[in-house]
Amino acid sequence: MCGIVGIVGHSPVAPLIVDALKRLEYRGYDSAGVATIEHGKLARRRAEGKLVNLERRLAEEPLGGFIGIGHTRWATHGVPNEVNAHPHFSEDVAIVHNGIIENFSELRSELVAEGFVFASQTDTEVVAHLVSRALRGGASPQEAAFSALKRLKGAFALAILFRGDEDLIIGARSGPPLAVGHGEGEMFLGSDAIALAPFTDAITYLEDGDWVVVRRSGMQIFDMEGRPVERPRQQSVGTSFLVDKGNHRHFMEKEIHEQPEVISHTLANYLDFAEGGVRAFEMPFDFGKIDRLAVSACGTAYLAGLIGKYWLERYARLPVDIDIASEFRYREMPLSKSSAALFVSQSGETADTLASLRYCRAQGVPIASIVNVRDSTIARESDGIFPTLAGPEIGVASTKAFTCQLAIFAALAARAGLQRGTLSDEEARRMVRALSEAPRYAAQALRLEGHIEKIARELSQVRHVLYLGRDTSYPLAMEGALKLKEISYIHAEGYAAGELKHGPIALIDESMPVIVIAPTDRIFEKTVSNMQEVAARGGRIILITDEAGAARASLDKFETIVMPTMPEFIAPIVYALPVQMLAYHTAVAMGTDVDQPRNLAKSVTVE
Ligand code: AGP
Repeated sequence: MCGIVGIVGHSPVAPLIVDALKRLEYRGYDSAGVATIEHGKLARRRAEGKLVNLERRLAEEPLGGFIGIGHTRWATHGVPNEVNAHPHFSEDVAIVHNGIIENFSELRSELVAEGFVFASQTDTEVVAHLVSRALRGGASPQEAAFSALKRLKGAFALAILFRGDEDLIIGARSGPPLAVGHGEGEMFLGSDAIALAPFTDAITYLEDGDWVVVRRSGMQIFDMEGRPVERPRQQSVGTSFLVDKGNHRHFMEKEIHEQPEVISHTLANYLDFAEGGVRAFEMPFDFGKIDRLAVSACGTAYLAGLIGKYWLERYARLPVDIDIASEFRYREMPLSKSSAALFVSQSGETADTLASLRYCRAQGVPIASIVNVRDSTIARESDGIFPTLAGPEIGVASTKAFTCQLAIFAALAARAGLQRGTLSDEEARRMVRALSEAPRYAAQALRLEGHIEKIARELSQVRHVLYLGRDTSYPLAMEGALKLKEISYIHAEGYAAGELKHGPIALIDESMPVIVIAPTDRIFEKTVSNMQEVAARGGRIILITDEAGAARASLDKFETIVMPTMPEFIAPIVYALPVQMLAYHTAVAMGTDVDQPRNLAKSVTVE
């Protein structure tokens, strides 16, 4: 994840910015830079690699100025080098950016046609030129920034400097977090409270869609319509340790909200959004040379693997055997030399999963793992890893790690299809295009939280819940049930919708809510008939679908969570968010310990 820092102060800011960027190193980066304004001039220093290289550049050519912005870049568009490092310039503007501007290609063509010259391969640079163009047209810095923001699609956090105004930084947030720090006669911007801890613990977190005008005297926040809004100023807690809850009540809530950002960063590690293709990332085996993949994991990670199985078999025609690890480790699955094994684990320390990996090691098959902790035991004992870039996941209930695991499985399905010749280049590019939109749809899904919270309050009154889904929504139904039971302690089961009539329908009555996960896809009508079977028996239905689905379901007396219409391929990733929010708000309504539910541990390192 990239890191952003901005300071409008009363002493030289460049060294302060670098110190703050050091506190963001945990987010991962591959280049860094600082820009300041001094005597009316914009100047910058940038360096590839670690911050020590930037410090060296600053020692060679110091930067003055009491106002500046800084950035640690995790490359998404364009290789990690000095030219692509932030801040990016355009005439009178300097900008740093975290996230992905999805429509940057069309904006870039528009600006090039108007004579703007691009110095980098980044998506960020289009924003600098958009702001410059508006300034040329006579707009004020505030008007110019606002007009540029309205053109952007995607998930982004930004900070902008304007030559000639040494008392103004404009920040914006649409997805990735951005916080304002309050000082005495100085103000700060940062990706989180950790970056700002050396300066202040008085923090205001921007909400999604906010943008902010920051001056030494204070700040003014505006919403997406340009209306002034108020956001609470609070004491950031525990900045001494690496992660804090920000403006959330629980880590789980924060981690649910981090998903647009971490999904985009995870995808960018495997997909080249600029070229629209799949990166040639390191693989411990060639999908074209294996005839079977054994997948094993526990809990939520296992359910991610189950969705991955659908994708790998559908798009790469690769037979996948998947097992929960506590069974896999004892059932002695026969593996041949043309098999490979893949393990999924957020912590990378789960005992059953590790034991299963060691069984495969003993069988001599190549081993890969999808992990969120790169130096974990499972990672170390694998021949190759596919890291999820979710950042530390503190809540016991796995959320952002799950959607990042799915993002990797989706990228692996495209890569496997290309390696096995079951996908054309165009078909793979279509999958990449769909995946590039997942962060934006995830951000839109988060905006349904108020409605979901209302439904959750009703759910908190019941003792049993059934989740139904078909195809890739079936593992998601099981994940929804797992989320609900592990944090609210309500009994819940996830079932294949088509299986209802083979037993579970006996459970249906008006006291049993049935949550149906059903984006409109080629089997949607089948799920509608399952819902009619439920409704006919007085069952209460909560349908998670899209506009077309809500219209076609035509079932009265049922709650609907209407998701944005999106490519079918990415639905399992995005539909995980309402499922997570439903469980979260039900647990909050019940007053359970959401981050540390009873009897559970974040990583089960024992059998
Ligand atoms: C999921 O919300 C639970 N926390 C649990 O099922 C978890 O997914 C499982 O224990 C596996 O953990 P791992 O991903 O760290 O291996």
